[in-house]
Amino acid sequence: MIGSDGERYLDFGAGIAVNSLGHAHPHLVSALTEQAQKIWHTSNLFQMPGGEKLARRLADATFADKVFFTNSGAEALECAIKMARKYQSANGHPERFRVITFEGAFHGRTLATIAAGGQAKYLEGFGPKVDGFDQIAFGDHEVLDRAITPETAAILVEPIQGEGGIRSFPQACLKGMRQLCDDKGLLLIFDEVQTGVGRTGRLFAHEWAGVAPDIMAVAKGIGGGFPMGACLATDEAAKGMTAGVHGTTFGGNPLAMAVGNAVLDIVLEEGFLEHVAKAGLLLRQRLAELKDRFPDIIDEIRGEGLMLGLRTRVAPGVFVGALRAEKLVAIPAGDNVTRLLPPLIISDEELLEGVRRIEAACVALSRKPTTAGH
Ligand SMILES: Cc1ncc(COP(=O)(O)O)c(C=O)c1O
Repeated sequence: MIGSDGERYLDFGAGIAVNSLGHAHPHLVSALTEQAQKIWHTSNLFQMPGGEKLARRLADATFADKVFFTNSGAEALECAIKMARKYQSANGHPERFRVITFEGAFHGRTLATIAAGGQAKYLEGFGPKVDGFDQIAFGDHEVLDRAITPETAAILVEPIQGEGGIRSFPQACLKGMRQLCDDKGLLLIFDEVQTGVGRTGRLFAHEWAGVAPDIMAVAKGIGGGFPMGACLATDEAAKGMTAGVHGTTFGGNPLAMAVGNAVLDIVLEEGFLEHVAKAGLLLRQRLAELKDRFPDIIDEIRGEGLMLGLRTRVAPGVFVGALRAEKLVAIPAGDNVTRLLPPLIISDEELLEGVRRIEAACVALSRKPTTAGH
């Protein structure tokens, strides 16, 4: 990235995990410009081959049978929440409409998704919070069990919280949630808006735990920078969402579908996800070395694949500022964490250059002498 000051920056933010294939990837540019010369928009009252193709590919690659395309993550979540309520209602349980969410969550900025996220700073000043969300502590199975009432429809969770500070739910926790949902007739919704489409080294982060949801919200990386999202579901979970029950004007438009298919062409290429996992391990290993050298700055390294977080002893704003001074872009998050979310196509050389800049920022912050060779 080149700033307005003419300086070159190494992008370890990727538009908050959006530009998964970097900026202006030739395959995406050609998919978009080719489609732009054909048709941009038509109502989804008509069949759209690009959307059908992308939906089929997503269904083939995941637990899902059905896909609804949106323009953003929050809309994908709205679809997921509506679907869970409708499922319970269609099953004769209209009283089951509440969704359990977790402290530290972020699910978007619509009225329902700020209520789901439950963070005061996003709710403040917007009138009464939308009803139907019960937020509980992070990662306490007994608290979760106790929070389920006869009105509960679903559990909604990010397998790794992004805005919350790269906080991973242990695999056992995700498995426990699946079991609870099965035992109690609830739906399990994963928010993979930030973790999805290769970011963690698997197509979707929940695959690491070997647990599948009933409904999943996706966005960000799925469009590689083109605004789009998707709500994926099993036939069973989607059974109340018959034609006309939910809808969108722009979701699934031909431009988005062309780019979405082009992103999948690359992410599903043999070896791509292995590359992400390997690059993530290398980055993590080098960051661990920095943590050992700068314990006064780096407190903890978190995350999976190329969704990593550095919990620092300085405020994330200060740390991100120090990185920016070294021409590295990173993203602050909650819990004193700075997110490192480079494009998934990053080379080892770029990755190591990023580590050198993080090291330089640590040196500047701690005013410690650098090691030989740096
Ligand atoms: C986990 C998660 N869910 C939902 C959203 C909302 O997505 P959007 O901003 O596209 O509405 C975000 C955005 O940061 C996110 O990280």
